[in-house]
Amino acid sequence: MISKFRTLTGITTTGTPHLGNYVGAIRPAIEASHRDDVESFYFLADYHALIKCEDPARIAQSRLEIAATWLALGLDTERAFFYRQSDITEIPELTWLLTCVTAKGLLNRSHAYKAAVDRNIADSEDGDAGITAGLFMYPVLMAADILIFNAHRVPVGRDQIQHIEMARDIGQRFNHLYGNAYRAVARTDADPFVLPEAVIDENVATLPGLDGRKMSKSYNNTIPLWLPTKDLNKAILGIVTDSRAPGEPKDTEGSNIFAIYQAFASPDETAAMRQAFAEGIAWGEAKQKLFERIDAELAAPREKYNALMNKPDEIEERLLTGAKKARERSAPLLAALRETIGLSSPAAPGSRPPSSTETVADSVAAPQWKRYREKDGLFYFKLVDGDGALLLQSQGLQRPDEVGLVIAELMVMGGHFPHVSRATLAMDGRVEVVGEIDGVRRALATLAEVEKQKRAAKAAHD
Ligand code: TRP
Repeated sequence: MISKFRTLTGITTTGTPHLGNYVGAIRPAIEASHRDDVESFYFLADYHALIKCEDPARIAQSRLEIAATWLALGLDTERAFFYRQSDITEIPELTWLLTCVTAKGLLNRSHAYKAAVDRNIADSEDGDAGITAGLFMYPVLMAADILIFNAHRVPVGRDQIQHIEMARDIGQRFNHLYGNAYRAVARTDADPFVLPEAVIDENVATLPGLDGRKMSKSYNNTIPLWLPTKDLNKAILGIVTDSRAPGEPKDTEGSNIFAIYQAFASPDETAAMRQAFAEGIAWGEAKQKLFERIDAELAAPREKYNALMNKPDEIEERLLTGAKKARERSAPLLAALRETIGLSSPAAPGSRPPSSTETVADSVAAPQWKRYREKDGLFYFKLVDGDGALLLQSQGLQRPDEVGLVIAELMVMGGHFPHVSRATLAMDGRVEVVGEIDGVRRALATLAEVEKQKRAAKAAHD
């Protein structure tokens, strides 16, 4: 697919978000969602959650809490794509297509699967005891999450690197097997899938928990993100410190209180706290300052969070809107992939088959692409219908081959997916939809049909 650099983040919906998630993952991701030069995809990995959790109430609650968290903290859903994995039907469909090209041996080598087998063997059980095929297939589902949106980069923790490598392997295998077929179907020079890269942010703050170890659900040392003010205060009072008395100078190095404070404070505030430590601030007072700093940052979003949790319908609506927007990307790709592998459905709406005696080209005055170069030196194209009315107008493009690529992209969208919106067609401002969107769709479908007939005629002739 054309256009911007894409990053993608999956959030497993099993737990309740805590301060460590906030500082280490959510806050930086939300900041990134405001960037103009990247397209960001954030999604609730609720199919993955099923692999770890069989408690329906917990899954439902966690989905809601996590969605409300991201929205309350100001995720820019106009710019970013924010959706639930289980709303994107193309993801499980793609999972199967990928499953069929994935070596079982690759999955045998998954760290998570191997660890589960090793645990069984250590317990003198059958190696596969209690291991679901879901756990085994986890990497394929994750590959589908990433590949369906052709993400370039996936920011992850170290424990997920192998999964990204597997997504690359699986994507590469598919590209190798079906690349030529796909290029013919999609009229593009590109591979079906971009091979994603893992991005490990070395600077990302890991927050110490109550006991000084990394804040993590598995250590049971977390401070939940949305505690009411009073409980937040109480939780912070419970953070472990050394036994230095008030007035004794304190080390910032190795202090949990200081580390957490720093994750929330500005450089100036941090410098002031460092000074206070040197001057022997009492732990009680330091904790009070820490509480106030965190509460100042979270008070306003907390109100939004609580308001959203009281209006689950609103959360649902935002998620469905997000899913619709995401599917404008995933559906055309999956349609092209289906055709690529031999599963096209010719009766799909939008492909208006011609009657047996006439070709589309004969039956209607066919729409046309017009390509041209303007005085500004840039390359343009437009789409006009059979009567010459303008339907689509491109922006000026730097190179003539870009014109070809954008047209190919439009043909894939228009020829395979009748539900594309004005926004998908506009494709990051590369083209402007001038005529009625239905007219544009019809024109694209007609052109796709004409192309198909030409190819069929040529094949018969060859
Ligand atoms: N496996 C990831 C985790 O446990 C969650 C996830 C699912 C994910 N699908 C993804 C992350 C796709 C990145 C990309 O953290």
